[in-house]
Order: sequence, then C-alpha cells, then structure tokens
Amino acid sequence: MIYDFSNRKINIDSTHRCPLECHKCQRQAIRRAGHPVPGQDMPWNDFIKIANYFEKGILFCGQISDPTANPLLIDMLRYCYEKNIPVTVNTASTHKSREWYKEAFEADPKAVWLFGIDGLPKDSHKYRIHQDGEKLFEMVKLCAKKCKTSVWQYIVFRYNENDIEEARDMALANNIDFDLVFSGRWVSGDKFKPRNPNYYVDRHNVDLKKIKDEGYKDWKKEMDKLNTNDLDENWKKGLDKMASEQLPRKPNERFFTNTHNPVKTILSTRRYKK
Ligand SMILES: C[S@@+](CC[C@H](N)C(=O)[O-])C[C@H]1O[C@@H](n2cnc3c(N)ncnc32)[C@H](O)[C@@H]1O
Ligand code: SF4
Repeated sequence: MIYDFSNRKINIDSTHRCPLECHKCQRQAIRRAGHPVPGQDMPWNDFIKIANYFEKGILFCGQISDPTANPLLIDMLRYCYEKNIPVTVNTASTHKSREWYKEAFEADPKAVWLFGIDGLPKDSHKYRIHQDGEKLFEMVKLCAKKCKTSVWQYIVFRYNENDIEEARDMALANNIDFDLVFSGRWVSGDKFKPRNPNYYVDRHNVDLKKIKDEGYKDWKKEMDKLNTNDLDENWKKGLDKMASEQLPRKPNERFFTNTHNPVKTILSTRRYKK
C-alpha cells in the first residue's frame, strides 16, 4: 500500500535553534537531560522538496525551535510568496533586528504571523526567558500593517491572568488578532499555573490518550479503511466530544483547532492501492 500525505499542511522545525529558554518547551527538557538539541538549519534543497510536496502550505512553527533562527527564512518566505504557497510563522524570539523583521514581512505579505507574547509586553519575559516583549510587540504592530494577518498569541499564566482584557484592547486598537491559549503543560505545585480554572486545561492529555486507546491503536490498519465508509465510530465520537468540551471564546478571538487531531490526520490522507 502507498500512502500519499500531500493533501495537507506540514508543520516544520526549520532549524534546531532558539535563543529563548521557555520553561515548558521540549527543547528545555532535552537540555535539562544534558543533551544538545538535535538537528540543523534546514538546507535549502530539503525545504524546496517539502514546499512543493505539501499542497496546503507550511507552518514554520515546529516543536523545538524558533524559525527566525534559520538564516534562510526570508528566502524561504520569498519563495513561498512567489509560488503562492500558504505560510504561517510562529515566533517568540527577539534576537533579530527591526530591519530584519521588516524585510521578512515584505518577503511574503500574504503570510500569517503568530507572535508569542504571554502577558503584557513588559511581563512576557517571565515565561519567555531572554525575550524583549516590548520590542516584539512593536514588530507585531508592524506586521499588522505589512502582512495579511498578525496574531498576538497569549498563553495564560498566573502572572498574566489578570491582564487579558488590557492586552485584548491593545490588540484590537492595533488591528491585531488576539489568540488566547489555555495551556495544559503543568506539574504539581506549578507556580505558572493560573489560579482561575477557566484559564488552563487539565484533561487534554487524558482525552487524547482515551481517543488513541479507543480508536487509534493501529493507524496503518485504520488508514486502510479509508474510503470504505466504515471508519471507527469511536473517532467520530471522540471528535464530537472534544468539540463539545472546547472552552467558550470571545467573538474577536481567533480559534485554532487542534491540527494534530489523529482523526483529521487520517481523514486527510489519500490512499492509493499498489
Ligand atoms: C516550540 S514552539 C515553536 C515556535 C516558536 N518558537 C514559539 O514559541 O512560538 C511551538 C508552540 O508551542 C507553544 N508553547 C510554548 N510554551 C507553551 C506552553 N507552556 N503551553 C502551551 N503552548 C506552549 C508556542 O507558543 C508555540 O505556539
Ligand atoms: S521560543 Fe518557542 S522554541 Fe524557543 S524555547 Fe520558547 S517555546 Fe521553545
């Protein structure tokens, strides 16, 4: 059996580097274990292959890096713009110059940028260690003028849970979309965990595990059922359950659904018989 994964977006770590040290990031777990963060800056030819294969576009986000650390990012953005490839960029680091951001925004005016500023710009470094939040907020505003969409991604922590409305107003006043994120990455006695239970997620991993246990034991076997209309009912139930449990959002907030949902992944895969 041959599987064709081209009918989707792809989320890439376009580098292995990041100058920040956010406590709960996977790269910090790797470093705490005494290992260097594996990988390299994505070579140009690898990028070209990926960019031309996936039909729905590229998410420059990743799990262990910040895309601005790849010296070729601006060239990659320019390439995507010329080829009409949809692009999203998730960034939180602030080591690049203001001129660099301007050039990056101009390289692909159709790009959607998401900036991780967790709290008021003056406070964001409490989680985003080494970040200059005020400089980044200036870049979010510049992006709102130059690009298709500029998003302020605000993860709620204890130190910022009372500043949400002020931040939302700042975003609205500057034509910036506001994306409030409820994290599920907590340990017991976590000093970052918000006090307000509406601002964090505890059960996410439990639910995902349940869905996987119920309907995702053997993904290859399940993929082979595609187009046969006998997809496991448990997936559908699991998806409905997740949708019904999503926390209410205010109308001016963007809402990014979980792109890593196993059901969606499987349903977007084409199957070819050999
Ligand atoms: C590893 S980061 C890579 C992209 C970029 N470096 C950044 O931080 O935005 C991937 C995603 O994880 C998010 N993230 C970081 N810390 C988080 C936390 N404690 N809870 C939930 N999401 C988190 C980031 O905001 C980003 O959207
Ligand atoms: S900015 Fe992103 S990649 Fe860098 S440490 Fe923070 S979460 Fe991880």
